[in-house]
Amino acid sequence: MSKSEQLKNLYELYEKMFFGREIVLGDGNADTRLILIGEAPGKDEVQQGKPFVGAAGKNLSEFLNKLGINREDIYITNVIKYRLSKVNPETNRVTNRPATKREIEDNREYLLKEINIIDPEYIVTLGNVPLRAICGSDVTIGELHGRLSRVEILGTEYDLFPLYHPASVIYNVRLKEVYYKDLENLKKIIE
Ligand code: URA
Repeated sequence: MSKSEQLKNLYELYEKMFFGREIVLGDGNADTRLILIGEAPGKDEVQQGKPFVGAAGKNLSEFLNKLGINREDIYITNVIKYRLSKVNPETNRVTNRPATKREIEDNREYLLKEINIIDPEYIVTLGNVPLRAICGSDVTIGELHGRLSRVEILGTEYDLFPLYHPASVIYNVRLKEVYYKDLENLKKIIE
């Protein structure tokens, strides 16, 4: 079965499992060397039906430019493929919220199968949620960012390169320096 057929089957199962939610599936070139994994789509992503568009997409473009990578050449997905939101009861404003451990656990098996189907050389995780979904434990990005490790996913080994989430470095100058250094490392590795 081709990769696109396998992905279609997997995404059909996912849509059944999380029926009733506005789902944003993975997007890009399934024959890529590199899969990029975020946490969950936000409002813009749900509106446009694509991961990392809007403000998050702007961050991502800067990130990809630094690496000299075209978005069309890689595959981009999220651990959780629907928006995690909460409503402020006073203002009725809807905002994003972090994933719970349970949500990560419920989504994990789909993510691992998705990675197996794409079968990339490199897995790049953005922030703690995808890192934990893959490592299945309480590891933190602070320990593992910016260096390569090997992970086994459903019987296959991959190179994992954890990065901070680009959105988390916007207002933190020190972290931004670390993040850019990590990007330089990743660039050397994939070149
Ligand atoms: N942040 C993510 O982690 N994923 C998206 O798709 C958008 C923002």
